[in-house]
Amino acid sequence: MTGVEGQDGSRTLQERSWKLEIDAYVEAHHEEMFQDLAAWCAIPTVSSQSEHRDDVRRGAQFALDALRARGCGHGELVETTGHPVVHARFGEDPARPTVLVYGHYDVQPEDPVDEWTSPPFVPTLRNSALYARGAVDDKGQVWAHLAAFESLMASGGCPVNLIFFLEGEEEIGSPHFHEAVAARKNELQCDVAVISDTTMTDPDHPAICTHLRGIVALECHVTGPSADLHSGEFGGIVANPAEALARILAALKDPDTGHVLVPGFYDDIPPLTERERHALAEVPFDEEAMREHAGVDTFVGDPQYSLVERLWAQPTLEINGVTAGYQGEGSKTIIPKHASAKITCRLVPNQDPMTIGRRVADFCESLAPEGVRVKATVQSGGNPVVAPLDSPYVQATADALEDVYHAKPSFIREGGSIPPADLLQTALGIPVILVGFGIQEENYHAPNEHFHETSFMQAVRVIARMMHAFSTIPRTERSKP
Ligand code: BES
Ligand code: ZN
Repeated sequence: MTGVEGQDGSRTLQERSWKLEIDAYVEAHHEEMFQDLAAWCAIPTVSSQSEHRDDVRRGAQFALDALRARGCGHGELVETTGHPVVHARFGEDPARPTVLVYGHYDVQPEDPVDEWTSPPFVPTLRNSALYARGAVDDKGQVWAHLAAFESLMASGGCPVNLIFFLEGEEEIGSPHFHEAVAARKNELQCDVAVISDTTMTDPDHPAICTHLRGIVALECHVTGPSADLHSGEFGGIVANPAEALARILAALKDPDTGHVLVPGFYDDIPPLTERERHALAEVPFDEEAMREHAGVDTFVGDPQYSLVERLWAQPTLEINGVTAGYQGEGSKTIIPKHASAKITCRLVPNQDPMTIGRRVADFCESLAPEGVRVKATVQSGGNPVVAPLDSPYVQATADALEDVYHAKPSFIREGGSIPPADLLQTALGIPVILVGFGIQEENYHAPNEHFHETSFMQAVRVIARMMHAFSTIPRTERSKP
């Protein structure tokens, strides 16, 4: 339990009073908080599309203004070669721990737009949830941190020094985030980073995430004739790049187990220990609900691993897009001159993105059938994340979660990636706490993305409690990882 306990196990009056104040504040103000979040979600901060460049900046400015209005004295946009990073700070008290909140204000593209029940950038409250692109990933979860800060300020003050560092390029692989970290390294010195951009296994069971997969992205280009050719005139004597690409892609994985056939792909991975497998088996995970949500008849993969192990603790190779030949109405009898595929691999601890990317690229090139040229390029990568378990901040977070949910948090892994988490741990030498409030059914990256109002309110209450719990950790125990 959080805080000081009396002999009879009751909490001190002082602790009870700030909790009551915070909970009352959240109860009284959650509608305005959610309205403000809706206004933020109305700004289409799609980082991947240059037409939205000004919108992305507007989204950054909106967050900065909101932070300033709530009491962050220092705040500005940190310029990078790409979209800006929001940097705001409250408090300079050396006696208190300094907590860095990382999150992202950029969002995924909204397509396919006709599958949305309400337009993606017209935030709509429906079924006690806010429907909008970015509602859960990650504006809603970032806004919970802002709202927690607001609640603390209104209930006796914020007990820690707080740094907000909000990125606008997370959804495109954070290509310039390191520039902002390097530019602000001194100002970012802190004791711990908190990231709310992950999920819980269900809305009533809180979770702390200990591992995220890394990622590497590649493109494989196959070229053949110098122009599209008439398939009647040349069919049978000229190699077809679309067919060559299909052969290459089909050779990357074992069709039965999904085992990646790239030489060296698994070389650097230590096998899961019995303890790790046991811990993963303990996580409450509704396979049937997940299958239904995905809309598939059956799951696939290597039967020697459980579903959770396949998702969270094994690497993958996925073909994300294939382009070749004629895509318009009707048929067109050609041998296309070019074919290409976009590929990403999710990686697990100890796999280096660039090394694995090169191994995959080399293998693709080695598979080139006669008559075509194959060039595979590694585009970008991000490290897997291992968050510490032994930090006192983890225990404080677990206590805060239990206090609000009346359930102990599960220690989960996630299949998704947040490359800046590892960058912050490494560059600043601090532990990162991954405590997320989304659920998978809230349609990450998909049409009808939403965030439940109760999840938002619980998140605000948890985060406020975390800050109080962090402030009581003795200086000597504020260990670095
Ligand atoms: N919030 C997600 C990461 C996530 C999703 C974690 C689901 C856990 C469960 C994040 O915004 C994201 O989508 N990251 C990208 C990173 C990539 C573009 C480098 C991802 O995982 O695809
Ligand atoms: Zn995302």
